[in-house]
Amino acid sequence: MSKPTRLAVKDSEPKHLPIYQHKNKLVQAVRKSPFLIVTGETGSGKTTQLPQYLHEAGFCKNGKIGITQPRRVAAITVAQRVAQEMKCTLGREVGYQVRFDDCTSQETAVKYMTDGCLLREVLADPSLSQYSVVILDEVHERSLNTDILLGLLKNVFSDPAEAAKRRSFPLKVVVMSATLESDKLSAFFNNCPVFEIPGRVFPVTCTFGSAVGPKDVERNFYVKEVVKVALDVHISEKAGDILVFLTGQSEIEHACDLLFEKAENIDYRYDVQDRTVEGLLILPLYGSMPTDQQRQIFQPPPPGIRKCVVATNIAATSLTINGIKYIVDSGFVKQLNHNSRVGMDVLEVVPISKSEAQQRAGRAGRTSAGKCFRIYTKEFWEKCMPEYTIPEIQRTSLTAVILTLKCLGVHDVIRFPYLDCPEERFILEALKQLYQFDAIDRRGKVTKLGELMVEFPLHPGLTRALLKSASLGCQDLLLPVAAMLSVENIFIRSVTWRTLEKEAAKKHRALAEKTGSINDFATLLCVFNSCKSSDRPSAWCKENWIHWRALKSAFSVETQLREILLRLQQVQDFPTESFDGNKSELLRRCLCSGYFTNVARRSVGKVFCTMDGHGSMVHVHPSSSLFEQEAELNWVIFHDVLVTSKTYIRTVCPIRYEWVKDLLPKLHEVDVYELSSVARQEVTEDEMVKWESKEAAKRQQEASAEDVM
Ligand code: CDP
Ligand code: MG
Repeated sequence: MSKPTRLAVKDSEPKHLPIYQHKNKLVQAVRKSPFLIVTGETGSGKTTQLPQYLHEAGFCKNGKIGITQPRRVAAITVAQRVAQEMKCTLGREVGYQVRFDDCTSQETAVKYMTDGCLLREVLADPSLSQYSVVILDEVHERSLNTDILLGLLKNVFSDPAEAAKRRSFPLKVVVMSATLESDKLSAFFNNCPVFEIPGRVFPVTCTFGSAVGPKDVERNFYVKEVVKVALDVHISEKAGDILVFLTGQSEIEHACDLLFEKAENIDYRYDVQDRTVEGLLILPLYGSMPTDQQRQIFQPPPPGIRKCVVATNIAATSLTINGIKYIVDSGFVKQLNHNSRVGMDVLEVVPISKSEAQQRAGRAGRTSAGKCFRIYTKEFWEKCMPEYTIPEIQRTSLTAVILTLKCLGVHDVIRFPYLDCPEERFILEALKQLYQFDAIDRRGKVTKLGELMVEFPLHPGLTRALLKSASLGCQDLLLPVAAMLSVENIFIRSVTWRTLEKEAAKKHRALAEKTGSINDFATLLCVFNSCKSSDRPSAWCKENWIHWRALKSAFSVETQLREILLRLQQVQDFPTESFDGNKSELLRRCLCSGYFTNVARRSVGKVFCTMDGHGSMVHVHPSSSLFEQEAELNWVIFHDVLVTSKTYIRTVCPIRYEWVKDLLPKLHEVDVYELSSVARQEVTEDEMVKWESKEAAKRQQEASAEDVM
């Protein structure tokens, strides 16, 4: 058996990739047609090679080659890789741009970016005049932004005469996807040609486990199970690397800790059956990981060492790691879903689809035959896993993209060319929320505020709170908060040793208390300011159990948001208001103007009831500084919702009913276009509560009726 190291090095040479044999034909195909679909197995070289071929063939003479990725990590790591292959410094000829991180320059000819970034560029320049080629990549992932881009590119460029009027040279659009749906995509773009890169795939044997079955509601134990299975593989299988699929950062870090502890106790002389294997290298992989650590993932392990990558779904298609021979599949994924019971988007851990499970298994068969160990039962596969993953556009809130479309002049958002139409009620719900935020008026036209809101790469509610603070002249309170909410979690919580975990919690507690009136938003502000004013910020972070790297990016995000705000203030008339009250109240009032859609009132004990007409029962998440003080709270706003065994609200802030009472009635105007007089009525707290409980009862009745059906 050859060592995994050698396998990996050979395989990643561009000339060994399946796409290489089709280089000339592929370049010709792009030349010939304004739209082209390219399909090929993951790992065949589409993302890294095609842009290089086009660059070499002179496609950059008039403009850039832009390649979109649904995931930011993919955009960054792929750009790094391509810069290395083209022997140039990252950020010069080859660069990347993701939200709040622009690593490009005047020279950049090949630009990798997230689909969200390109969408923002379309907003500023609908004809994409800087580009000669736009490649929408990983289209099979069906991310919301990619789906919208598909429709926009079709709208703008599928009529050649119309397109010629807009640009001085033609734009080439390439749509890349890992097999599947090529006919549908081709039909969508007026039957454009499809280029298939034949792949080599080796057989992968899949086995089912016994750990997760259809009746297991509490599924938290799957972390332990994947660790056990991964160790079994390590001990009993021949050389070859392992890829473990879990759902998120904390879970992955926990699994890595467990693996590390157990692997340390293995006696390689006796326990491990393949004697060429002398050790285990454990590497986590998730979206918000430091870039240098991400790079390690792709490096072949030292001779004799088996690599075990513990990853989120990102390793299923966006990133290909060479040398993987074994897959351990938890069967779950963390997904943002619109939850109609809660009435908003929530992060949920849900079973993956069967096609996703096949894709995961396939990662073991790229260079030789492989094995996939599923920890769930066959019954779970049959009963709990859907056939296909539902496109994001059909399961998440459309508020931000609908505002973007409206600002692009697409007024009829229902008849926009969607590859798969979202349900009409989702579109109406988005319109309703935009109306509630005053981003559009009763006729659906974008308001002045809406035009300002679209400039910020933030959730519309957060933007609204930020704009409110600007009008009150207290943006210094909100800018850091918005920045902190835009980066990954800054609190170090999961540590191997219990005693240290307690110590971390104590420090975080002290930071929360420093603000006087405890609330999670103010804690974020306090962390931001304390660290910024410290002489040795990185040491300060270490002492307070804060991720310095995350905080550093928050500093940069804050600067960027501040610049956007300043630019807007220079060109637009900004409303000004005044307020006399203390800072804590000022901050919370500004937050209310954006988060009034996320208001909850304490119902009984520690249970809260949301006030958006859904009347869902929610709990304060243990990570909140208000956890265990719930009984003293009455009204709160929250940043987001997480559903695990319970429905949790995270990043919580106590408020007063008076601050939202004028805003709340807007939530209950059922029809966007038929504003009832309720909107302007004074509603007392009691009336509100009565109304809510009536609504909640109605909903519960509906829900139980649904259950019966
Ligand atoms: O896009 P597609 O899935 O067809 O393939 P790709 O992402 O272009 O990957 C081609 C090869 O480049 C694979 O063997 C990857 O492992 C390798 N690669 C890498 O070594 N480092 C990266 N950062 C990205 C890709
Ligand atoms: Mg790719």
